[in-house]
Amino acid sequence: MIIETIFSTLDASGRPNFAPMGVLWGEEEVIVRPFRSTHTCRNLLATGYGVANVTDDVLAFVQSALDDVVLPHFPAISVPGVVFQGACYWRELAVVAAAETAERAEVRCRVVGRGWQRDFLGFCRARSAVIEATILATRLHLHDRETVLEELRRYGKIVRKTGNDAERVAFERVAEFVRRWLSDRGG
Ligand SMILES: Cc1cc2nc3c(=O)[nH]c(=O)nc-3n(C[C@H](O)[C@H](O)[C@H](O)COP(=O)(O)O)c2cc1C
Repeated sequence: MIIETIFSTLDASGRPNFAPMGVLWGEEEVIVRPFRSTHTCRNLLATGYGVANVTDDVLAFVQSALDDVVLPHFPAISVPGVVFQGACYWRELAVVAAAETAERAEVRCRVVGRGWQRDFLGFCRARSAVIEATILATRLHLHDRETVLEELRRYGKIVRKTGNDAERVAFERVAEFVRRWLSDRGG
């Protein structure tokens, strides 16, 4: 099953990078499929280590996807890497094999460490809607303007109906990013 994580890596100078990544989740092995254009792909292949953070903090998904922020973190235990401070739980990963296509890498990682801070509460429609809107915002070039606006309206309705302030703030950041992207392209 693909689980949406905030994936952390270090670059060659040791600077942490955070990005949402859907990973194929297993207890012993995790498979990451980053596009080759991402920092995550470059860092993971160069260092051989990463951390898959599971969190319900949707603003962190938005910020790490759309703004180049270094999220609050602390050192991982079993790999050279960092854990997102807002992680409910996480897996520390060592790369065992990588295959690359023109677009993506498929990176098989062994779970070499793990940690837990708090329970993941459960399903929440507003949080799922923010995650979907963030995915949309990272793939705007693949859709036409009408589709983007329609999807954004649909997710916005769910967030307004079922979310709290945290989800509304996170969604507004995505909506602002999308509006700016469309207006830069003459929309
Ligand atoms: C929930 C979610 C899942 C994502 N999964 C992937 C993924 O599996 N592979 C990928 O390359 N990008 C994925 N993305 C897009 C990246 O997070 C986005 O391109 C990000 O800016 C890459 O950051 P980086 O260059 O710092 O690694 C996902 C985005 C979201 C919101």
